[in-house]
Amino acid sequence: MLHVTLLVCVLLLVACGQVAEPPEPTLDVQLVAPEAVPTTSFTDPVLIEGQRNYDLYCAHCHGYDGTGQVEESIQQTLDLGMLLVPAHDASGHTWMHPDQLLIRTVREGIQNPLAQFPMPAFGEAFTDEQILGMIAYMRLWWTPEQRQYQRRLTWRWTQMQAEQNSN
Ligand code: HEC
Repeated sequence: MLHVTLLVCVLLLVACGQVAEPPEPTLDVQLVAPEAVPTTSFTDPVLIEGQRNYDLYCAHCHGYDGTGQVEESIQQTLDLGMLLVPAHDASGHTWMHPDQLLIRTVREGIQNPLAQFPMPAFGEAFTDEQILGMIAYMRLWWTPEQRQYQRRLTWRWTQMQAEQNSN
């Protein structure tokens, strides 16, 4: 009887989303060295498409290895007194934002007069899944702790939206 009661309690708590842990990510790939720049050796189709889109639409600004603004234009930007394009790797702050805000950033862009290369608004050019694919690819550059942190943020954001929708 005690077992059944416990099980019901657990199920209820999980159903209410009170204590449920964030789901295990399906797109994470464990690299031998977490900071290592990923190679094209992965086989996950989401990552392959994510890398292709990233290389085509983002890399010329954010760097092919996610280290930020490409070398050639850095001095010119600094000479103009403007901001450099931020890195997406472990040294940047992309991992400090939940998936939902990263998707929104890609869609709406960032128009900052201090940025020599403003972040373009990609609008409906990508589906949510395609943007998540690019994020999954960038995630390869993060440390396990950063991935875990960002996963929690995303999970909390999902919980928050669910609560707002149920009110
Ligand atoms: C023309 C150059 C350019 C291109 C192309 C570009 N970005 Fe950006 N991006 C920027 C700049 C500049 C910022 C910083 C804007 C600011 O904070 O003022 C930025 C900021 C961001 C941010 C917020 C900062 C962070 O890391 O959390 C994200 C996320 C981002 N870009 C993702 C992308 C993705 C994904 C693509 C490709 C689909 C892309 N960007 C293409 C210039 C670019």
